[in-house]
Amino acid sequence: MPNKIKNDKQVKIHAPIVEALKKAYDNPTFQFHIPGHTKGLGTLPDFRNLVGKKALLVDTTDEFDNLGTLTPATGPIKEAEELAAKAFGAKRTFFLLNGSTIGNLAIAMGLTKKGQKVIVNRNCHRSILTGLIISGAEPLWIVPEKLTDWGLWGNVDAKVIEDLLKNNDDVSMVWITNPTYEGVVSDIQTISKVCKKYNVPLIVDEAHGCLWNFNDKLPTTSLKLGADIVVHSLHKTGGSMSQSSMLHISEDSMISAEDVERALMLLHTTSPSLMLLASLDAARANLQSQRGQKQLAKAIANAKYLRSEIDKMQNIHQLKSDFGYKTDVTKVFIKADGLSGKRLESILEIDFGIEVESASDVGILILCNIGNKRSDFEYLVDCLKKIDTHNYQDIYYLENKKHMPMLTPIIKKSLRDAYFSEKEIIPTKDAVGRLSGEVVAECPPGISILLPGELITEDHLPYLTDYSVIEVLK
Ligand SMILES: Cc1ncc(COP(=O)(O)O)c(C=O)c1O
Repeated sequence: MPNKIKNDKQVKIHAPIVEALKKAYDNPTFQFHIPGHTKGLGTLPDFRNLVGKKALLVDTTDEFDNLGTLTPATGPIKEAEELAAKAFGAKRTFFLLNGSTIGNLAIAMGLTKKGQKVIVNRNCHRSILTGLIISGAEPLWIVPEKLTDWGLWGNVDAKVIEDLLKNNDDVSMVWITNPTYEGVVSDIQTISKVCKKYNVPLIVDEAHGCLWNFNDKLPTTSLKLGADIVVHSLHKTGGSMSQSSMLHISEDSMISAEDVERALMLLHTTSPSLMLLASLDAARANLQSQRGQKQLAKAIANAKYLRSEIDKMQNIHQLKSDFGYKTDVTKVFIKADGLSGKRLESILEIDFGIEVESASDVGILILCNIGNKRSDFEYLVDCLKKIDTHNYQDIYYLENKKHMPMLTPIIKKSLRDAYFSEKEIIPTKDAVGRLSGEVVAECPPGISILLPGELITEDHLPYLTDYSVIEVLK
């Protein structure tokens, strides 16, 4: 027989949890256990009709039907984690429910202790801050450069990390976010060399970069550039269901996987959704398949198409890597002359039925996903062209609320001490000069406006227009 390139139908893509769940579905039992909706019969029929009977038939948890357990991973779940580790280039992978949030909490809880210093970028996701409050580790903040024209944070500078490590000989960990929400990429290779020089582990919150190992036109994953742990929100761009993420321990990691596993055991639900776990398994298998590879190549081609069309527009501009930063091509941040990002977002939504990933004071973020079709982008381009040539002067208004926190914090008390201090709730208008008692961080992007122990100033007020009261230290 002549040699032929095998397609996906011939090369069976192995997805152990998906297969185990199908087997359980094909061999139903009489159920006298949780979940009590009992294959969907004990719920509202309108809900069952909406999500489909089958979705509720496969909604089960990890004790039943030989589906394995999540923590510790056994059976098909263990096998699926091993396949994921191979696919993402890790030594060990943990599946996460409750998103990358729980990964960050487990890292803080399992790997840091009260009083230990951790170098962190201030524009990190609030889950990292929650983790540090729980563990009591002391953040040494890096405030990255600001891209003021875009109202965005730039990348993390290796030199700043090196200076901090030089001046503090008791740092236990460097923990940075890469890429930023909008796709700005830091030089992880150099940062990891610095960390190795000082023998300090490097943790990278790569929540927004989970596709990178599957196409060489995308930036290189930190797992291949010397990071010790990497967290990926597969549900954000990888194709799994909401809340499902992965935590990877890299091949040469100096971190013990068992320390992370112990923390996950404490933090994870004891009733994990098999459907969410199967969706992680399916997302990994899809990305490795010819079909998934094509989808990703198309997403990149669609992003390039969108970017080339935006380049032809007069009043709409895009953040590009030639601004001196490396960026992820699939995350397209645009701004329009004379319109705030929030205004542009609402024009797209109300006039054209388009929803984008997020909007800030300056611009909007468009994700070019593996599930999008070229026709989606053609429609988006048509709409943007209309906006580009329309005069919105008549309905232009000034917004007094700010969205993307770009403030340099004034820290007066340590994070954990402030969090556990005596507090009171006061009207926000009277809060200037007081120390915040709470984490104020709106999603998206989940970056903090204020942290416990930080001085509240006049500059914070435009970010707090939705807060009539705020918690402050007594
Ligand atoms: C950089 C970053 N890390 C972590 C998270 C938390 O991820 P998840 O929503 O998967 O819990 C987010 C969420 O937006 C994020 O932007």
